[in-house]
Amino acid sequence: MNEDNSYTEELPPENRLNELSAQEWLRFTKTWFVHNPPPRKKDELLHPAKYPEKMVEEFIKFFTKTGAVVLDPFLGTGSTLVACYNTKRNGIGIELQKKYVQIARERIKRLDAQFQLAQEGAKQYCKQIVVRGDSSKINELWKEYNLPKIDFIITSPPYGPMLNKKGLVTREREEQGLDLKYSKDENDLGNACSYEEFLSRLVDIFVKIKPLLKEGAYLAVVLQNYMDKGNYITLAWDFAKEMSKHYQLRGERLWLQDNKTLYPYGYKYSFVPNVHHHYCLIFKHDKN
Ligand SMILES: C[S@@+](CC[C@H](N)C(=O)[O-])C[C@H]1O[C@@H](n2cnc3c(N)ncnc32)[C@H](O)[C@@H]1O
Repeated sequence: MNEDNSYTEELPPENRLNELSAQEWLRFTKTWFVHNPPPRKKDELLHPAKYPEKMVEEFIKFFTKTGAVVLDPFLGTGSTLVACYNTKRNGIGIELQKKYVQIARERIKRLDAQFQLAQEGAKQYCKQIVVRGDSSKINELWKEYNLPKIDFIITSPPYGPMLNKKGLVTREREEQGLDLKYSKDENDLGNACSYEEFLSRLVDIFVKIKPLLKEGAYLAVVLQNYMDKGNYITLAWDFAKEMSKHYQLRGERLWLQDNKTLYPYGYKYSFVPNVHHHYCLIFKHDKN
């Protein structure tokens, strides 16, 4: 009701974050979800730890609008850029290893070819950029490639010096001739000498990224806690605590996998978990 007793139709408030319906918005706010990734394609199998594009698409659609700029500073095989392509967002990915950079570029090239075929030669208006480089030098890379400010980050960094330990899964991959770790490169965070060094180098990268982010932008970082030599390493929790000194921690979404093989670790003598969940930790570059 206005002051002169007349009614004006109230417009729904503008959705400042995304283009989702109310129902889609609500569904995403639940703090857990089950996502069983489809079997990987041949070229993607080489990489030891890829995440599913469909899952990443859900995050991108919640935290951005069409045409936004999304960064993945640990690109691996390019899953984030495939998700950006499918959701019409611009993607920038940084990856240290040439072999994974090649896989990522090939995947984008294939998508472009399919799109042009279907649209009779039309060009996609969103752009996917694969940068080969070290994310700890992100400021130099940003200047060199003249890159824009970022609306959203989604990434899964190396899960600590975790891939360096041998177990039943690594033995299976070894037998198939697949990569057990990303590289022997000392700039690879997965090769950090200790857990403490790994954690501090990882957080440091996100601190360097901060000035490249738009104010109010969100970050989603996928990590896992894990067993190492009989100790449970709380990587996701430790990272969340360190990061919250620099960003606002907004919560977590648990990614549950219920189609993975259960291995009899510790059977008949000790409790050893089959860790089949990941933390998608959500931070915000707050205006304050
Ligand atoms: C968990 S994987 C990412 C997998 C990716 N989400 C996918 O779906 O393929 C982490 C990646 O970070 C890369 N990496 C490690 N240290 C890096 C650094 N300093 N700069 C850039 N990439 C790095 C590794 O080579 C590896 O491919």
